[in-house]
Amino acid sequence: MSDEQVGVVDATGQQTNGSGDGRPQTVTITDNRTGESIELPIEEGTLRATALRQMKTNPDDFGLMTYDPAYLNTASCRSAITYIDGAAGVLQHRGYPIEQLCEHSSYLEVAYLLVHGELPNNDQLATWTHEITMHTFVHENLKEFLEGFRYDAHPMGMLLATVGALSTFYPDSKNIGDPEERRMAAIRLIAKMPTLAAFAYRHSQGMPYVYPDNDLDYAGNFMGMLFKMTETKYEPDPRLAKALDTLFILHADHEQNCSTAAVRAVGSSQVDPYSAVAAGVAALYGPLHGGANEAVLQMLARIGGTDRVPDFLNGVKNGKERLMGFGHRVYKNYDPRARIIKKHVDEVLEVTGGGGNPLLDVAVELEKRALDDEYFTSRKLYPNVDFYSGLIYEALGIPRAMFTVIFAIPRTSGWIAQWLEMLDDPETKIARPRQIYTGHRDRDLTADLRALGR
Ligand code: CMC
Repeated sequence: MSDEQVGVVDATGQQTNGSGDGRPQTVTITDNRTGESIELPIEEGTLRATALRQMKTNPDDFGLMTYDPAYLNTASCRSAITYIDGAAGVLQHRGYPIEQLCEHSSYLEVAYLLVHGELPNNDQLATWTHEITMHTFVHENLKEFLEGFRYDAHPMGMLLATVGALSTFYPDSKNIGDPEERRMAAIRLIAKMPTLAAFAYRHSQGMPYVYPDNDLDYAGNFMGMLFKMTETKYEPDPRLAKALDTLFILHADHEQNCSTAAVRAVGSSQVDPYSAVAAGVAALYGPLHGGANEAVLQMLARIGGTDRVPDFLNGVKNGKERLMGFGHRVYKNYDPRARIIKKHVDEVLEVTGGGGNPLLDVAVELEKRALDDEYFTSRKLYPNVDFYSGLIYEALGIPRAMFTVIFAIPRTSGWIAQWLEMLDDPETKIARPRQIYTGHRDRDLTADLRALGR
């Protein structure tokens, strides 16, 4: 088992890591403060952190806790949605490899798979597609809400606010115990996210909003809402719509990343799904997460030309720069999503005539040199999904500020699938980490005020 795999079970529910050789699946820990030992069961490759509480120095002792900032070695839930083997560069949704999904599925089919757990049959896919298509419109009041933003507001900030605002339009979504409310929230969120994203973009351009066109498919409709001008009917280039749909598949879910963990943590308070997903959008905004695709393009533009790549990499090695689009908490091998995206860059540039984009040359040179450099290889830093995605978005004519917004559209299906799974998990409780308190205790306010002359 690789370092990154936690709690792998096979299809029969058996542990695959080390079981079956007759040895006990337990760990014995001795507390040298008391000399007492406890034997803890290993369940699915993990220890229950709460089991350590038995280790006390006296009956009033709280018991041992674990300390794990940034959850580097803590599984926070059990999940059957997405499997990643970071060492081998494997990504699977509900057991299907990402490469096969990108080649043979559409984004809406993958969204169905994530949310429902199984592939749809023809009727189920038709119904799902119809329902999503019929819910793409947003309440007219949302346009007025958007008008409150300044002309240069970042579209990700607008998306964050408008997704949260949806909860005020669907107050019944608070009934998270009602299966129909949950189902409708899933459909509405997946359906309306492209509309909110496109409206945010049109607002930032000072252009009129374009309503959804239900004759178009999911990606084509989004392109229409972004780009339609005076033509009566917007006809997306099918090759570009397909490339965008593939990007949507690649971004649909990625197990317990920062934004998904945020959706689960906020959702565990039993808030409505729109508010929980708004938390996910906020987490995604950050440059170390979904904001990296925008940061990559800024970095490539700043480098400017292939001749300046060595200097830039020296800056990274000296700690003055960060190589955006490189490195990943889980992948310690080439991110399989980056491999798939890279294949699409040339295709898209060919269609858009954007071949010869000097930033692509800079990206290729950066990747080549970094993969040949001991600093990066020894730290297992490889290109991640964001390294090449921005180049495709740029070729599609999408401005940089929209890149993370486009990431949020497909990730919504992952957030929803994880939120639904969390609600059905009998072990779910409100997320509430512990802390190690490092501050003062028992200070005397009046004495200190006196000392300050107050
Ligand atoms: N450039 C330069 N050095 C790096 C980078 C990088 N992009 N990433 C990690 N390192 C170094 C880091 O300084 C550390 O070095 P040392 O051992 O000398 O202290 C070592 O590699 C281990 O890194 P880490 O900071 O412990 O890794 P992490 O798991 O905490 O961080 C990461 C993961 C994705 C936040 C980080 O690699 C990073 O900041 N990458 C750039 C931002 C980026 O591309 N984010 C997108 C991630 S994929 C899509 C998504 O999640 O949305």
